[in-house]
Amino acid sequence: MSSTPPLFTAYSLGQLTLSNRIVMAPLTRSRAAAGFIPTKLMADYYAQRASAGLIIAEASQISQQGMGYQDTPGIYSAEQVAGWRQVTEAVHQQGGVIFLQLWHVGRVSHYKLQPGGAQPVAPSAIQADAMTFVEGDFVPASEPRALERDEIPLLVNDYRLATENALAAGFDGVELHAANGYLVDQFLRDGSNHRTDEYGGSIENRSRFLLEVMSAMIEVAGNHRVGIRLSPVSPANGISNSDNQALFSYLFDQLERLAPVYLHVIEGATMSSREFDPDFDFGQLRKRYSGTYIANNGYTRDLALQLTNSDSKALVAFGRKFISNPDLVRRLMEDAPLQSLDKHTLYGGGAKGYTDYPTLSDQDVNPSR
Ligand SMILES: Cc1cc2nc3c(=O)[nH]c(=O)nc-3n(C[C@H](O)[C@H](O)[C@H](O)COP(=O)(O)O)c2cc1C
Repeated sequence: MSSTPPLFTAYSLGQLTLSNRIVMAPLTRSRAAAGFIPTKLMADYYAQRASAGLIIAEASQISQQGMGYQDTPGIYSAEQVAGWRQVTEAVHQQGGVIFLQLWHVGRVSHYKLQPGGAQPVAPSAIQADAMTFVEGDFVPASEPRALERDEIPLLVNDYRLATENALAAGFDGVELHAANGYLVDQFLRDGSNHRTDEYGGSIENRSRFLLEVMSAMIEVAGNHRVGIRLSPVSPANGISNSDNQALFSYLFDQLERLAPVYLHVIEGATMSSREFDPDFDFGQLRKRYSGTYIANNGYTRDLALQLTNSDSKALVAFGRKFISNPDLVRRLMEDAPLQSLDKHTLYGGGAKGYTDYPTLSDQDVNPSR
C-alpha cells in the first residue's frame, strides 16, 4: 500500500499545525466596500478555501498612500479591522489558518487613489513602467516623488501598526509583501532606487528598508508569526536590477538571522515563465535558508508532489488554481480535473467569478454545472 504523499500531510509552521502543505497564494480581487473594508462576501470566499493548509489573504494596504488599485482592502482603520475579523472567524470556523499580506505599492499607484490626489511615493522619482487599476480601467502608474529621509521611519511604523491591526483582526500571522515591484522591492533594486543616503547604493543599503520593516513586524508579532514574500528575478511592475544573485544571497543570509516563519518565493516571472532567468540559481539560495520555504509560480500537481517529496521544509502556494477551484486540496488529492479561470471577473464585481465556482460535491449534486 502506498503512503500519503507529504504534500497532503500535516505540517508544523511556527506554533501552528497546517493540515497539509498546500498554500493559497495572496490574490488581489478588488472587492472591498467603501472605506476599503472587507465584506461578508470576502469572508465567504476565504471560508470556501479554508481546506488549504495556509491561506495568505490578499495584499492589504498599510495606509491609503500604500494603495495602488481600486477597492483593495486596508488594514489601518478600526472599521477595516472589524471587517477582517469576520474573514478570520469564518476561516477559523472551517478549521483553516490565515495570514494577511501587508502591502505598500510605492510608485505603482495613481494620484486618483492617493490621499488628496497627491503623487505616489517611491525610493526615487522614477516612474514605473506599470499599470494600475482605477475607476474600472487599467491605466499607467503616475509619476512618483522621492521619499524624504525622515519619512522612512514613519513608513516602518505603518507596517508595525498594520501588524498590530492584523493580529487584532484575528490573523494567525502576517506576510511582508516584498515582491512584484512594490515599495519594498523598489528599495531593493538599483533600477528604481537611486538614493544617495543609507537606503540606496550598496546591497546592504538597498536591503536596509526591508530588514527594518521585518524587524518591526517581528517585534510586534514574534518571528513565529511573520513571513515574507520575494520575487528575485521577476520583472513585475517594471522592476529591474543588475545584481540579483548577490542581492538575494545577502538577503537570504540576513533573513536566516531574523528567522521569520517562512520565506515565500516566486520562482521566475510572476504568472509567467518559471525559466525567466535561467542563469539565476534558486537552488543556491534555498541552501542559505534553513526554515520553511513556500514555493510559488506555475506549480502543477506533479511539480508540487516532486518538491515536497524531496524538501521536507517546502510548502507550495497556488494562485490562479485556487481562484477557480475552492476545493483545490481535494481535487489535488484525488487528481480530479481542475476548472479553468474566468479572466473577466478577477478584479472587482461581486459573487460572479468569486464565490460561485463549484466544488466537486456541488458538481455531484448538479453534474451539468
Ligand atoms: C488575480 C491575481 C491577483 C494577485 N494578487 C496578488 C497579491 O495580492 N499579492 C501577491 O503577492 N501576488 C499576487 N498575485 C500573484 C499570485 O500570488 C501568484 O504569485 C501568481 O498567480 C503565480 O502563481 P500561480 O501560477 O499558482 O497562479 C496575484 C495573481 C493574480 C492572478
